Amino acid sequence: MLTHAVAAQPSWEFAEDVRAGLTKPQKELLSKYLYDDVGSALFEVISVLPEYGLTRADERVLQRNAYEIVERLPQPVTVAELGSGSGKKTRWLLKALARRQPTAYCPIEISPTALAMCKRELGDIDAISIVGFEREYLDGLAEVAEGRKKDQSLLVLFLGSTIGNFDRPAGLEFLRQIRGILREGDALLLGTDLLKPIPHLLGAYADPLGVTAAFNLNLLGRINRELEADFVLEEFEHVALFNAGARSVEMHLRSKRDQTVTIGAAGFSVRFAAGETIWTESSHKYSKDEVVQMARDTGFACEAQWVDREWPFAESLLVAE
Ligand SMILES: C[S@@+](CC[C@H](N)C(=O)[O-])C[C@H]1O[C@@H](n2cnc3c(N)ncnc32)[C@H](O)[C@@H]1O
Repeated sequence: MLTHAVAAQPSWEFAEDVRAGLTKPQKELLSKYLYDDVGSALFEVISVLPEYGLTRADERVLQRNAYEIVERLPQPVTVAELGSGSGKKTRWLLKALARRQPTAYCPIEISPTALAMCKRELGDIDAISIVGFEREYLDGLAEVAEGRKKDQSLLVLFLGSTIGNFDRPAGLEFLRQIRGILREGDALLLGTDLLKPIPHLLGAYADPLGVTAAFNLNLLGRINRELEADFVLEEFEHVALFNAGARSVEMHLRSKRDQTVTIGAAGFSVRFAAGETIWTESSHKYSKDEVVQMARDTGFACEAQWVDREWPFAESLLVAE
């Protein structure tokens, strides 16, 4: 895999984001920082946990419908995947595309570990050439779009319900920004986890093995490692809760006692009261109709949707108008 590698997250930016987030009244840390090498490896484990139905549901949808999805695409097509992770589920689509034509696949990732996993996972598919971009989503997408040949359409993959990490207005704005980079007729395959009973939703983010807790706590470990901080990880605990107003599952890290933490490389200290939380991630949940409306509001038309029945999860094919 050829990789265009520019550190997508310079450490000064990480330090600034940590300072900005931990000095808000509701302390928060951006979820993109969950994915260092440890976090990316832990996410792979989460994706096979019995309680985390999302990844399996998404994979079932892609496996069962890959040929139908590909038949609906113009050709030739270049594929760009936003936040590919290991790219495991993408294999089904790439294999279907490879039967039609040689295809360039461009995973766009802030995590170099995820990009390396993606290369290992998908590097063996004949007629697929992989060019990885170590970039933020939109920077990477703009580069792929600029670099494509004139006759190539673009298929953007945003799988796994990662769109749910944005709140609803920010999600719409993100879709608009994607649309701004695309040409008419280009496509976006968008994965969304659908609303379901709250115990199922919450169980996916609070597994009894504690893998999701480790994934969440690793963010404090990362700040210790990269920004000379002195978080004592045992003094924080993972919390998952359902926010009914936002229709999202939130992950937090709760301070077990009053304490002060110093983040050396960011030049500040922060106090935590016992019980106070740091909000680290939201995963918004949708209805099928809401996705159709989101497409309309952002310059796309929803051409088709495929839904997993076992764990309600939708893949929607949005075409740029
Ligand atoms: C929830 S995981 C999903 C991985 C995979 N798409 C799946 O469906 O299983 C999100 C992935 O997006 C990457 N990511 C998060 N924020 C990003 C950003 N701003 N730009 C590029 N990649 C990002 C992370 O490194 C991570 O691998």
